[in-house]
Amino acid sequence: MIRKKGNFYKLDTPNTTLVLKAANGSAEYVYYGKRLKSLENDYERFVFRKGLSPFSSFGEDEQRRPGISLSISDGSITARFKFKRAKFVEKPDLSPLPSSYAEGESRYASQTLCLEFTDEVTRLKLCTYYTVFADSDVISVSTSLHNSGRREVTIHSLPSLQFETLSTGYSFVNFCGWGWGNERWKKSTHLSVGMKAVNESVVGYTSHTANPFVMLEKEGSVYAFNLVYSGNHKECAETDCVGRTRMLIGINDYAFAYKLCSGESFYTPEAVMTYAEDTDGASANMHAFTATHILRGKWKNKERPVVVNNWEATYFNFNKEKLLALADEAAALGVETFVLDDGWFGKRDNDDSSLGDWFDYKEKTGGLALLADEVRGRGLKFGIWVEPEMISEKSELYEKHPEYAMKIPGREPLRHRHQLMLNFADPKVQKYIVRVISSVISECKAAYVKWDFNRFMTDPFGSEQRAGEYIHEYVKGLYTVMGKIVEKFPNVLFEGCAGGGGRYDLGILCFMPQIWTSDFTDARTRLWTQSGTSYGYPQSTMSCHVSASPNHQTGNRTPLETRFNMAAFGAFGYELDLTKLTEREKGTVKAQIAFYKKHRKLLQFGSFYRLGDAFKDNATGFICVSPDKAKAIAMLCIREKVREVEEERLCLKGLDRESTYLVSYREQDNYGDGEKFLVGGDLLEEAGLYTSELFADKDIEASANPVFTRMILLEKTRKKRV
Ligand code: GLA
Repeated sequence: MIRKKGNFYKLDTPNTTLVLKAANGSAEYVYYGKRLKSLENDYERFVFRKGLSPFSSFGEDEQRRPGISLSISDGSITARFKFKRAKFVEKPDLSPLPSSYAEGESRYASQTLCLEFTDEVTRLKLCTYYTVFADSDVISVSTSLHNSGRREVTIHSLPSLQFETLSTGYSFVNFCGWGWGNERWKKSTHLSVGMKAVNESVVGYTSHTANPFVMLEKEGSVYAFNLVYSGNHKECAETDCVGRTRMLIGINDYAFAYKLCSGESFYTPEAVMTYAEDTDGASANMHAFTATHILRGKWKNKERPVVVNNWEATYFNFNKEKLLALADEAAALGVETFVLDDGWFGKRDNDDSSLGDWFDYKEKTGGLALLADEVRGRGLKFGIWVEPEMISEKSELYEKHPEYAMKIPGREPLRHRHQLMLNFADPKVQKYIVRVISSVISECKAAYVKWDFNRFMTDPFGSEQRAGEYIHEYVKGLYTVMGKIVEKFPNVLFEGCAGGGGRYDLGILCFMPQIWTSDFTDARTRLWTQSGTSYGYPQSTMSCHVSASPNHQTGNRTPLETRFNMAAFGAFGYELDLTKLTEREKGTVKAQIAFYKKHRKLLQFGSFYRLGDAFKDNATGFICVSPDKAKAIAMLCIREKVREVEEERLCLKGLDRESTYLVSYREQDNYGDGEKFLVGGDLLEEAGLYTSELFADKDIEASANPVFTRMILLEKTRKKRV
């Protein structure tokens, strides 16, 4: 709900309030934090003399680097924007860029305030849009620039959001990983006065190394931000010497120069922000927002199937017989969807050919449509892998249409994984890909599509685009193609992927409700990746599989139960050759799948909390709690089992503190009987469980196991505590 009182605009969400002041030619942030009760408060007392500005342009902004950077055809480099008016408007339509949406007829389902600023000399109009949703503590913000003057203007930088708060002592938290396999590992940098911290991607996609979800964190106060975008992005935090902390979020200004002729407008992607007292609260806000206002379509709230994916089972080395043997085994164990990964098309026997040739490699599949039918005949749904944005030079497509590849004329293109990218900024290429990918999906009647992207951009160029605009146009082209394909197949479950989780962002999630979290399936690295991912994204969006031991990426040996315990906290499946399991292991897998199916609503959609800090503490874990707090499942994990930490305890979260829970260990092969005991919710939260009890006297071979896990079930008893 947004209300105006005098010069103040009060934007309320259920638990937070953002107050803006707009008057006398300028606008400023007045307050953003816990919900304020009434409009009658004297907001003037919050106003900071030096201003907390919603945008900044050159020359006006003391000595900090301004958010907006322009060059104007008269030779100048700045515009001086003055506040003109505030109005209530429809939420701007950013298409083809995706953005959040509100469901429901009520006119209060969402409300948007637009602050309009103009520059007298250039007649540029700058608008900042703030949208609140009736049921969410996340506020969406975007910015537009309209050229109503005669001069030509080039935008070098136009953040979606500039946020400022009068406070120092924040740490800048980002999820940067170290590249392929280590996505979204949490990092925290204390922002001392005068210091700037930057999180960015310049490689044409979200990137493995810098996710756009970031936070400003200090004791008792957390601001979290994200960007609904899958291209080059930049999140910059700065604390200045008068005590202000500023966040700038938007398209990266690196290699960006967007020409705005007279009469033209540019709309930034949408940024989102939330406030909470701690990181659990910030994550809960982002999870609920993503689930309600980002994910869409049939699979938004629908329980996701248990899948088997043949990639780590066979890599490129498969034939129909092998695939059907895997499908037979999968069906017998209770798997629901069989996903045929890379290698089924063109003449694809390894990664140096055939991308772009989206037609059946019959010698391997025995006929794709027939294979899919036979898989379905075994009671499984059929899923398929594609990598639509790529082209191999060794392909029929390249022979026919070398001009579809992204290359700079006169320059030898750089290859990664032997492949080039397609020029998705070109409508001809977009049309071609929509057609061929749609016909693959129709041909095999796929129920599930894994959309991969396995290299970064090195030769951005399109003959129709201006330098500096290409990368953004590529991203718009990608969204156009994704939008069309997803719309054509409303029943298909689409999964995003980029060499693992390199394109894990709210932009992709507007089209595809889940993303392959990382190619590293090792339970130890997954602890960090899943934990890091959970700060910004709900667990239903995280695709997680049990893979073989020793792990193919790290060589670590991990018990089957440990691998299950970790992967169960997301959209779940197996990624190993099930036919090679021993009979005992098959029994274990069957029991795991049955357990997962029984509890998947809770595991995929329950309120998710991190226990401990996986990046600091030895004892950590996850817990999913049902909305009524009647049931919960926790995964407790220690990385080292050493005598000195015998007193180590792990406190649970999200429980009903007034009630008693029946606690039981999940029965599992390695650990024998499941013990059961009664404990109060408050004790489980305050005193927690001793990890020495959880893991004592078990036959754990410390040297071989890089993590130890236990899964615990909690069920509220009827007994009310006195
Ligand atoms: C990427 C994906 C993997 C697999 C391979 C196939 O690396 O992340 O899961 O699909 O491509 O080439």
